[in-house]
Amino acid sequence: MNRNRERSERKPDRAQPSRNALVESAIAAREKAIAPYSQFKVGAALQTKDGHVYSGCNIENISYGLTVCAERVALLKALSEGAREFAEIAIVTDASVLTTPCGPCRQLLWEYCGDIPVYLHSLKGMDREHRLAEFFPFPFDNRNLK
Ligand code: THU
Repeated sequence: MNRNRERSERKPDRAQPSRNALVESAIAAREKAIAPYSQFKVGAALQTKDGHVYSGCNIENISYGLTVCAERVALLKALSEGAREFAEIAIVTDASVLTTPCGPCRQLLWEYCGDIPVYLHSLKGMDREHRLAEFFPFPFDNRNLK
């Protein structure tokens, strides 16, 4: 695949129906965000290899440190329902810079999803596709335990 094209900015279009649906799920999840402290709402939607979609929003807490990111909510919902094989994740905010997963989410996504495509979308009209390995190039994973 042409890497430049793959990574270029583009809008979701009709040629990518499942990707568009995944972004729509993340947009809907974002509506449910509980973010009274940061006012920064995030939605995520994680698709399994067999097509199930698990979505999540960020859930903040007055202690701040107990806040859980949208990506982690989606992942933990999926894992707790028995899902184990993941295809891709979409992450949505309305920021003017596309939002990438935080460090702890990168670690968790890597462990359970591996090098999946990560589709970033802003309601301001930006999109970009990455692979998780781009965000997490030298992971601590089971290869380190040998
Ligand atoms: N947040 C996410 O949910 N996902 C990210 O990828 C980045 C940050 C949340 C955590 C907190 O509720 C708010 O965004 C501001 O950091």
